[in-house]
Amino acid sequence: MNIPIKTLANGFSLPVYGLGTWQMGGRWEADISQDEKEIHAIQHAIEQGITHLDTAESYGDGHSEELIATATAGYDRSKLFITSKVSGNHQGYDDLLRSCEASLARLETDYLDLYLLHRFPDVGTDIKDTMRAMDRLVDEGVVRNIGVCNMTVSRLKAAQAATSNKLVCNQLHYSLDCREIVDKGILEYCQQNDVFVTAWGPLSKGALEDAVILHEMAEKYGKTPYQVALNWLITQQNVITIPKTSTPEHLDENLGALGWELSPEDWHMLADEFPGQVSTSNRVPLDYDADIEP
Ligand SMILES: NC(=O)c1ccc[n+]([C@@H]2O[C@H](COP(=O)([O-])OP(=O)(O)OC[C@H]3O[C@@H](n4cnc5c(N)ncnc54)[C@H](OP(=O)(O)O)[C@@H]3O)[C@@H](O)[C@H]2O)c1
Repeated sequence: MNIPIKTLANGFSLPVYGLGTWQMGGRWEADISQDEKEIHAIQHAIEQGITHLDTAESYGDGHSEELIATATAGYDRSKLFITSKVSGNHQGYDDLLRSCEASLARLETDYLDLYLLHRFPDVGTDIKDTMRAMDRLVDEGVVRNIGVCNMTVSRLKAAQAATSNKLVCNQLHYSLDCREIVDKGILEYCQQNDVFVTAWGPLSKGALEDAVILHEMAEKYGKTPYQVALNWLITQQNVITIPKTSTPEHLDENLGALGWELSPEDWHMLADEFPGQVSTSNRVPLDYDADIEP
């Protein structure tokens, strides 16, 4: 299927649904035991029309990137959109350039469509040096677009102030049960400033499976709870998502989130009444104490 795309006012586009790959190829260390299954899952996703593949140098200590290289070897690179990320402890000027080169080598490609700071640089690294390295990568053409992850409004402003290249996305934990970015004004800021919010962790398995209201809504629309949960995200301005699945049947199910919309009343009912909502991510809580102004 053709995955719908969203386009920012500045002209940058992303498909509303991409494939996440955290835990494909291991967690923080490489695990090759599931390689065949993961390669098949990535290829199945591409066959179903997915073009955006999201990875990071830290996923499986680089092995997720290697899996993407193997899985995509037979496909036209120009039709794929590959995002990778540089870890917070590799964001000094030289370190960042080295990280990008290593990601490109593992991905067996000569450019990244999108390169993200996985978080704000570690203490001791000046964001200006970080962004200078990102700018150089853009100037050299090895990175086509740049963005960030897990940044509060003030950190996003500080990162943007340090580069003349537009930061096109802020990748953040956002789901029916994790509302930190709404409560802290990050979603609204991104919407008002022409930045995509790429929702990671969109499927909180237990929360989705236990929520009666979600099952009722799914029944009303003839959809599954996972499809409703994803639809709830992508109907929002500037929000796209990147669920991870290594199970082809799950991918097929998740794609049923596309091509229809919850009514505004039902969208609001889910927003208001979904049980167990939290205002702080239980996975990557954002660091407000360290907030800085540019
Ligand atoms: N920037 C950041 O700091 C950051 C942080 C975390 C994640 N991310 C990115 O965001 C992506 C998505 O986040 P995530 O992987 O943490 O969480 P997620 O996509 O919300 O959840 C993935 C889990 O949901 C399961 N799943 C998917 N579809 C399903 C379905 N239809 N029915 C039942 N289970 C289903 C998957 O199992 P199966 O594999 O068996 O389907 C997997 O266990 C990551 O893979 C990564 O690329 C970025």
